[in-house]
Amino acid sequence: MKIYFCCTDFKAEPWLAALRTALPQAEIEVWAPGAGPADYAVVWAPPQAFLDEQPQIKALFNIGAGVDALTQLKLPATTKLVRLDDAGMSVQMAEYVVHALIRHFREFDIYATDVAGGKWSFRKPRLREDFPVGIMGLGVLGQRVARAVQAFEFPVRGWSRAPKELHGVRCYAGEAQFAEFLAETKVLVCLLPLTEETRGIMNRETLSLLQPGGYVINVARGAHLVEEDLIPLIDSGHLAGAALDVFRQEPLPAGHPFWRHPKITMTPHTAARTLRDESVAQIASKIARLARGESIAGIVDPSKGY
Ligand code: NAP
Ligand code: GLV
Repeated sequence: MKIYFCCTDFKAEPWLAALRTALPQAEIEVWAPGAGPADYAVVWAPPQAFLDEQPQIKALFNIGAGVDALTQLKLPATTKLVRLDDAGMSVQMAEYVVHALIRHFREFDIYATDVAGGKWSFRKPRLREDFPVGIMGLGVLGQRVARAVQAFEFPVRGWSRAPKELHGVRCYAGEAQFAEFLAETKVLVCLLPLTEETRGIMNRETLSLLQPGGYVINVARGAHLVEEDLIPLIDSGHLAGAALDVFRQEPLPAGHPFWRHPKITMTPHTAARTLRDESVAQIASKIARLARGESIAGIVDPSKGY
């Protein structure tokens, strides 16, 4: 069995070592243009040339949850695209979102500024019921985040494509219930995949439907947010601010207005990192299942794009 590693932004050597240990029977190499045919590939944002040269590949294992860099390419008709499902990401995402939510809710940034200025003063306690959290995307990550937010007793709403029933979550589905979901939300968390349907889903019109004093936590993809629409909504007072992990262009260009806005906090696309050992174990187990003719989780549906 031959497997190529074709990942931009990841150092090849530690991945090759971990994959060779987990799959000792396989020949595993970094792909180079003109290389011979392989059975499987481990990929992150591969070039189109790789897919064009390897139409026989049975499955591409994406070393991330989001497959938008791949769905933009022309994929061979018979190749399965497989995303990481969880592999240690969902607990990181839960930490990130709960941290951003509580930092905002408890006004910890204001305390930090006060303390830095030598000021000892108290904020008026706020009520959790005034901060309903709406999670767009109730998949692997969204459901884990919903559980974590519930543990802190915030009201939780969720929105997905197909209707869902989740204990303790008021669930909405589809375009028909989107406006109602937004109207029931003060803190909006984006955990959608980036598809043609979800690109630009957070914009002036939709964010205006959030409850006054709304807050945006975007941990999915930068292109879910129409960036130009965010600051006017914050400066008008409709939104209280935003915590952003992802941006239309990454790294965020110098001089971008988000760098200096006092009500926008940012991190460099780090909410849930790919963990090598967990990911390699998941990929090796899926390859073994495929070889035995068994089904695997995480196959992307090309008609949905996630
Ligand atoms: P997932 O399991 O595929 O879940 C996607 C969810 O979005 C599903 O609930 C799906 O609805 C819903 N959805 C998709 N299209 C929709 C639409 N048009 N309208 C309403 N709901 C829609 O994905 P995941 O593993 O939770 O990951 C979500 C995203 O997080 C990834 O695609 C990636 O972009 C991002 N991510 C970011 C980081 C980071 O570090 N910032 C790390 C990992 C992942 P159904 O349930 O009805 O299908
Ligand atoms: C990271 O953003 C991922 O999609 O795994």
